[in-house]
Amino acid sequence: MDWGLANRMARMFSPKSENTVMLAVDHGYFMGPTHHLEDARATIAPLLPHADALALTRGILRRAVPPSATTPIVLRVSGGVTVLHEDLSHEAITTSMAEALRLNVSAVAMSVFVGAPHEHESLVHLGDLVSEGETAGMPVMAITAVGKELEKRDARYLALACRVSAELGAHIVKTYYCENFGKVVEGCPVPLVVAGGPKLDSDRAALELAHRAIEEGAHGIDMGRNIWQSDHPVAMLKALRAIVHEKATVNEAHDILVAEKNHPHSTVAPATA
Ligand code: R5P
Repeated sequence: MDWGLANRMARMFSPKSENTVMLAVDHGYFMGPTHHLEDARATIAPLLPHADALALTRGILRRAVPPSATTPIVLRVSGGVTVLHEDLSHEAITTSMAEALRLNVSAVAMSVFVGAPHEHESLVHLGDLVSEGETAGMPVMAITAVGKELEKRDARYLALACRVSAELGAHIVKTYYCENFGKVVEGCPVPLVVAGGPKLDSDRAALELAHRAIEEGAHGIDMGRNIWQSDHPVAMLKALRAIVHEKATVNEAHDILVAEKNHPHSTVAPATA
């Protein structure tokens, strides 16, 4: 890994825990004004100091994040289809590497649709993006999208999608937690981060998901709805940090959540990266 690329990776992953807490706010690129993300600037502002990286599109970056922000940016560069379309896999690269460099981001991200109608184009786009990334010193995160076919979120499918992404050169792979997640980790030679998916029944359930993912080998999370659709987003993010960076148990993380909920400016220190 060349110095520039390695340096960008090091901005996002803690040298101590080797993990990262990415905050995902890129949902609008295909879902529109998602619940609690309608005013992205207001949602992002209180969370930004507690995230190791912020994952979003160029439109929201320019409009909702102050240029003085020092949080590393993971820029989504794929899109072109919305939830109104039956086939979500018809994505293309919508933001150039030149723009990613101009925006001074720490990584670019794109969805890959293994097993979907546009699998071939999707994987070729990933290969091309990695080639550009290697030239520019820019890490590429592949997002193993499963479209509307949620039943595909099993270890066999996700292991295939993650491994193929890594084989094509992705430097980070974002995927979903599933039963036998260890199998997915085992077959993927680059760091895996885990998305949260739709809001779970409780904050505790999301803490449990993150805890299992880290225990089974994920190098962090890239979570959105289970943080900013929570009634206590900052408290939730701090609790997740304790799991990701400090190996906190679910009970310990939940205690942080409760303490922060009751005393938002309490002495519970944000976990250091
Ligand atoms: C979805 O298209 C995006 O890639 C999201 O960033 C990803 O799903 C993570 O967000 P959430 O935890 O809400 O699933």
